[in-house]
Amino acid sequence: AFVCLAAPVVYADTPTNQQEGKTVYSLDFKADQYTEETVALDDKTIAYRAYKNIMYVQHPVDTTYQLLNVFVPVEYYEGKSVGDFTAETAPIFLKNDIGGYMPALPGDPQMVREDGNANPMPFALSKGYVVVSPGARGSASEVNGVFTGKSPAAIVDLKAAVRYLRYNDAVMPGTAEKIISDGTSAGGALSALLGASGNDALYEPYLKALGAAETPDHIFATVAFCPITDLEHADMAYEWLYNRVNDDKDANGKPLYQFTDAQKALSAELKALYPAYFNSLGLKSVIDGAALTDANLEAYIKHFVIAAAQKAMDTKGTDMSGYAWMTISNGKVTDIDFNAYLSHVTRWQPIKDPPAFDWLGDQSTQEPRKFGSRENKLFGTETQDVSVYTDFSAAKLGVTISQELKDRVYLMNAMNFVGKKGVNNAPYWYIRHGSIDRDTAFPVPVSLYTKLMNVGAAKDVNFDLAWDRPHSGDYDLDELFAWIGSVCK
Ligand code: DHB
Repeated sequence: AFVCLAAPVVYADTPTNQQEGKTVYSLDFKADQYTEETVALDDKTIAYRAYKNIMYVQHPVDTTYQLLNVFVPVEYYEGKSVGDFTAETAPIFLKNDIGGYMPALPGDPQMVREDGNANPMPFALSKGYVVVSPGARGSASEVNGVFTGKSPAAIVDLKAAVRYLRYNDAVMPGTAEKIISDGTSAGGALSALLGASGNDALYEPYLKALGAAETPDHIFATVAFCPITDLEHADMAYEWLYNRVNDDKDANGKPLYQFTDAQKALSAELKALYPAYFNSLGLKSVIDGAALTDANLEAYIKHFVIAAAQKAMDTKGTDMSGYAWMTISNGKVTDIDFNAYLSHVTRWQPIKDPPAFDWLGDQSTQEPRKFGSRENKLFGTETQDVSVYTDFSAAKLGVTISQELKDRVYLMNAMNFVGKKGVNNAPYWYIRHGSIDRDTAFPVPVSLYTKLMNVGAAKDVNFDLAWDRPHSGDYDLDELFAWIGSVCK
């Protein structure tokens, strides 16, 4: 979600060695290869050292993306502290710029975001964080006609970047024991996955092949804005929630969606599949400990919507008088009409066609190989751009999903690693999903939050639906960094 003027890539690190015909890049941090830069933040000027385009693996397959940038407040080279931190104790704010499961270049404090929200990097620097921005391969990465970034490449790259920081912890400013990962949407899903899957051995062969540093890869905290995760079940969750707006009409009584009978049937089928999955999670309400099932999930989600409205009224004085579907009494939001609220959400942006994620191909030609969603592109192979990846869509197309692909789908889902034995979940989590964000359905972030709370692997999980926020991230930076500061104490 960042736009950046293309600058010539100057590798801070040049290949140092050749081994068995492979170029070997050094993993050693070069403390003297930096430029000094400044960035404006409100009425202040933030000065920092920039270490750019550092290769974070020894055997990159894609030298465009397997790079990271490091930015360090200049005060740390003057023996000063910034806020609560020193050069020794500063946490590392690991901000990925991944969107749409596409490849991402390492980011920069100078960049301006497309979504209009602030770039959090200058803010983080001003608070004394060392800022690291990892590039990562993604669904469209291609080298010599071969796709290099299909699942699980992006998460492997983020882990390799974490390992680089741990490997160089003694010689780099900041502490790799306090890495706080931040991302939005696909980048939020990857941030959650990075936080959930610390040191899972399933990624080891991929990391080894790249020559990633042989260190742990768990992190201290995850910040995830609107994580597009649990792709195995996201289609079902979507129809379970939004099937009810399929027949919505505009103010003139005209249908908003021109769904065919076949699409409506798909929506109904997917909707019917979600309860079995949700109930299998065995989640308990974080409010009263009650067992959660599809019977009380709607009320549970409603609780977070009401809390979001109340918080907006209390902390920002938001005027709620325009919402006929909200009941307010004595300054307290006491109820919402849930169906009307969902219609409100989808007036901001129409719902996705069913299936929302694992498309069945070009709906007019039914040609799955020609036309794919961001997720179909994520699960392609080195030589095939798109794959269907759920049993549901595969059955509709008369194909089956190979075990190899199922394994690569598993490796992209944070839900699979929360509470998993032998894995190091991050102890601190901050998850936000906008109350008018329909890119994935609310049960997805709500289940992630609830599972994190239920398994007890985390010390603090801070979750809110963010009132009237559409699909976007890194908003309310004061609130975010107050939370980060509190957990880094
Ligand atoms: C993103 C948005 C989506 O709707 C989606 O399905 C995947 C990724 C994104 O903005 O990153």
